[in-house]
Amino acid sequence: MHNIVIFGGPGSGKGTQSVKIADKYGLFHISTGDVLRDHIARRTDIGKVADSYISQGALIPDRLMIKILEDLLVSRKEETKHGVIFDGFPRTLPQAEELDKLVESVGAKIAAVVGLEVPDEELAARMIRRGIDSGRSDDNEQAIRHRLAVYHKQTQPLQEYYAASGRYHAIKGVGTIEEIFDSICAVIDASK
Ligand code: AP5
Ligand code: MG
Repeated sequence: MHNIVIFGGPGSGKGTQSVKIADKYGLFHISTGDVLRDHIARRTDIGKVADSYISQGALIPDRLMIKILEDLLVSRKEETKHGVIFDGFPRTLPQAEELDKLVESVGAKIAAVVGLEVPDEELAARMIRRGIDSGRSDDNEQAIRHRLAVYHKQTQPLQEYYAASGRYHAIKGVGTIEEIFDSICAVIDASK
């Protein structure tokens, strides 16, 4: 079981690269943002709670987010047995600690964390561009500003958590999608 975390600011290319990683390495792609947006579209109870946080660019509370991930891993046990590419999770220290516990409980580990490093101005420009037709409630200037601030305050410090155990690998997240993918593959191949 080969588990990878793809890490980076909002708009850094986590989703784009995860699809390619899942395809090449046979990993199951879990994007917590996509999971929450699916709940919102289906108007579930979780969706009703998530909607207000997402549209403001704030994080869903840890307890709820961790429960959603745990339930997902249980219900997708078969699909996740070869490994998972985690996209958008963890975003806080409690989430990172919980994820390590969860994978350790099935005798596995998070082998590598790929950190896509992209300057804020480039991130904002990508999200504004996408916002023209994405329909995402958080692709507007106000929410983008908040998403970037939340990333720097609550999520970026996880780089140290993973660096302390030698698992953090910074990747230049600016360039063509293929160039970035090649750098990511080098990290994943070395973590096997
Ligand atoms: P989430 O859905 O995870 O969004 P995000 O982190 O803000 O990032 P995005 O999905 O916008 O960008 P991405 O990094 O996937 O990049 P993409 O490939 O799309 O989370 C949304 C919200 O859900 C959160 O704010 C929070 O409210 C909630 N949430 C989710 N997980 C949570 C958690 N664990 N805890 C609490 N709350 C949680 O690319 C972006 C754009 O750039 C695209 O248009 C793409 O085409 C383009 N692009 C990609 N690569 C390149 C490139 N190399 N050059 C130029 N453009 C590129
Ligand atoms: Mg995404």
